[in-house]
Amino acid sequence: VVATQTSGDGLVLKIGSEDDVVLVRRRVRELAQQRGFDAFATAAITTATSELTRNVFVHAGAGTVTIEEISDGRRRGLRLTFEDRGPGIPDVARVLAGGYSTAKSLGLGLSGSRRLVDEFNLETEPGKGTRITVAKWTRY
Ligand SMILES: Nc1ncnc2c1ncn2[C@@H]1O[C@H](COP(=O)(O)OP(=O)(O)OP(=O)(O)O)[C@@H](O)[C@H]1O
Ligand SMILES: [Mg+2]
Repeated sequence: VVATQTSGDGLVLKIGSEDDVVLVRRRVRELAQQRGFDAFATAAITTATSELTRNVFVHAGAGTVTIEEISDGRRRGLRLTFEDRGPGIPDVARVLAGGYSTAKSLGLGLSGSRRLVDEFNLETEPGKGTRITVAKWTRY
């Protein structure tokens, strides 16, 4: 991607409950469809959104997601930034490998989400919080 433009500053949604997981997921699905994502891309970004939104709620208690509509001149896309001030992730390599959970769950949310998107960036500091940015593009 050479030049990525965002339209406006993006839409910021709060994540603080299980209901918010549903609302964020619905919003992203609608935006993906509006932007011309095909069924596979729509399902992929919707599923990743669900997992990452739930992680904010479950592991950090609360946070936000910022949704931006992006374009590189040929393709349209969505960029989502999940931010929280939770406990952070001490061993990023381990959680990205998959199968590791501190919540006695499957531990597949983060690793699965990473595979479903085109761009994935994770910044975290133990005791301070976590910021995960993902992007998904339409095909050429
Ligand atoms: N936002 C976050 N803040 C702090 N820790 C997190 C956050 N997101 C993920 N983690 C840590 O990474 C681990 C792996 O996350 P992942 O989503 O892969 O699995 P999980 O949420 O435990 O289970 P599931 O498979 O149901 O999603 C979590 O168990 C948790 O320890
Ligand atoms: Mg999870």
